[in-house]
Amino acid sequence: MTVHFIGAGPGAADLITLRGRDLIASCPVCLYAGSLVPEALLSHCPPGAKIVNTASLSLDAIIDEIAAAHAAGQDVARLHSGDLSIWSAMGEQLRRLRALNIPYDVTPGVPAFAAAAAALGAELTLPGVAQSLVLTRTSGRASAMPEGETLENFARTGATLAIHLSVHVLSEVQERLVPHYGQDCPVAVVFRASWPDQRLYRATLATLDPAIGEGERTALILVGPALGAEDFDESRLYAGDYDRRYRPVGTNPRFPEAP
Ligand SMILES: C[S@@+](CC[C@H](N)C(=O)[O-])C[C@H]1O[C@@H](n2cnc3c(N)ncnc32)[C@H](O)[C@@H]1O
Repeated sequence: MTVHFIGAGPGAADLITLRGRDLIASCPVCLYAGSLVPEALLSHCPPGAKIVNTASLSLDAIIDEIAAAHAAGQDVARLHSGDLSIWSAMGEQLRRLRALNIPYDVTPGVPAFAAAAAALGAELTLPGVAQSLVLTRTSGRASAMPEGETLENFARTGATLAIHLSVHVLSEVQERLVPHYGQDCPVAVVFRASWPDQRLYRATLATLDPAIGEGERTALILVGPALGAEDFDESRLYAGDYDRRYRPVGTNPRFPEAP
């Protein structure tokens, strides 16, 4: 018996890995994290599967469901939105499972930031503009931010920021970032990336209207000069004169034995 933690992707039912889909199909029990996991994914469950929406359950109740499946020798598909490595509450479940000696494995998923970047048609790490992406959030009722992980500290680097769980505090985000990125820095807000009702909003830090954050909470705020840049360097990797292992160039290449 194994608990399969599966990244269910950002919303579109076909943005799940083949491995994730096949694991869902093989498990007689499926626990899924309500609001953000598309119900269409549940159609992969085998006939007669026990399907539980864990949105209203406590951690204790979720572990009770898993322990009951374990006692019955039934594999469990455990679905969380996006990828499991960020804001999935997987860590605390895994710790409980380790204590109970219940086996598990983890299948990655498409994270929301990747779906948002795809919707925008944006590369978030442009040569000479930004070479780092910070996945972050502002503090919420359930999770305070550790000291040091402030928007200001990340902003000082000039990296692209992907700010989660924060669309309801857009004006605060705006105020805190303007001193570092400047008024003209591009911002994009992607609501429900990859869902059928996806919406895109583009602005600058100065023109961003905080009112757009009222209502829909499933949104990602992307900030940084890479979002609007046209004047960036081309990658050296593909430059015609760049001598590399897979494309030796010149009379004395560094990697003469290249394939
Ligand atoms: C609890 S976190 C889950 C993140 C998820 N594990 C991931 O890999 O993206 C939820 C936050 O992720 C962002 N998010 C999740 N799905 C999204 C989507 N389809 N479009 C835009 N933002 C999304 C929003 O900021 C939302 O408040």
